[in-house]
Amino acid sequence: MTPLISNPYKLNTGNNMAPHTTKSVENGQVGTSSDISDSGLPTPLSHDCCSSPVLHPTLAEEALAVGLEIRPLLGQSFGAEVLKMDLVNKPMAPIVNVVRKALLAHKVLVFRDQDDLTPEKHVEFSRYFGTLYQHALDEARLPGAEDIVVVSNEVDEAGKKKGINGIEESQSRNGRRHYWHSDLSYMAAPPMGSMLHIKVLPADGSGDTLFADMVQAYEGLPSEKQSELLSLQALHLFHKNLSKEAYSAMDASARAVLENLPAMSHPVVRTHPETGRKSLFVSEGFTTGIEGMEEAEGQALLDWLFDYTSQEKFVYRHKWKKGDMVFWDNRMLLHFATGSELPRTLYRTTIKGDVVF
Ligand code: OGA
Ligand code: MN
Repeated sequence: MTPLISNPYKLNTGNNMAPHTTKSVENGQVGTSSDISDSGLPTPLSHDCCSSPVLHPTLAEEALAVGLEIRPLLGQSFGAEVLKMDLVNKPMAPIVNVVRKALLAHKVLVFRDQDDLTPEKHVEFSRYFGTLYQHALDEARLPGAEDIVVVSNEVDEAGKKKGINGIEESQSRNGRRHYWHSDLSYMAAPPMGSMLHIKVLPADGSGDTLFADMVQAYEGLPSEKQSELLSLQALHLFHKNLSKEAYSAMDASARAVLENLPAMSHPVVRTHPETGRKSLFVSEGFTTGIEGMEEAEGQALLDWLFDYTSQEKFVYRHKWKKGDMVFWDNRMLLHFATGSELPRTLYRTTIKGDVVF
């Protein structure tokens, strides 16, 4: 049987690079990296930019200069809509740096009205921000556009699943399909961001995606708690929520995929490589324990953190509209799929980030 969890990934070492990318060799793997600013690195933002839901005036002007309008989400402490974007026809090179700054400032960007976005353009745009992770399972990749992960609960005429949709209930440790997580956090260099494009919107308006702000969560802790967490490392495991029975029932090749993804240790509090800000980096989806702590003690701390971080005050609920393409920063946010009983399909790209520190 195949583990239908949205995860085992390999890096696309692709030759299909967007313009202005350079080849680099990291950890023995060839990848591509964006070369979008003069220095080759995005301009670091001042800390003031990120705590306010109000649009940074300079960024508003920069956006206008490249024909975009960025509107912070009303009544939310993070998130912005990007209007007047046309991911199919606009030349991307001039706007990429503005989008990157907007992502750092707002954490999640909602590009409206991208109904015509093709998988090829989705991939091309994503590659301006880094190398893409490709899903290891054939059934998760879009035929002809292998960098796209198909997130879907639909089946085709032959009854074959069109993509992946969380963890199968029958294979789940506790029957749950969806968990708060940061994509691929069990990798040494987890994704900086993911881009999700809605293809089939459930007719009843279900299927919201939740995002929780781990920067605010960290900053909201008392300083003693912050210092306690700063010294800790947590383990992240791809198949954390797969039941033991399901694991044992797997065929050898499927199990090999999981065995190639051993538990990965990351700091509980990470520092954002571009903004310098700290955030919590644990999730019920993948974090299995705290290094150097007894299992029960580590679990108690994690349970506390899972409850604390999922509080409504940290959460933005994205209600999908037709044509939406959402780009979020996995280094600052956790997200959660609420799922749907009705047909729902999205295409995702997953952009490699830095080793966590
Ligand atoms: C994902 C994901 C959320 C959703 O694609 O990484 O978690 O609501 N999707 O489908
Ligand atoms: Mn996800």
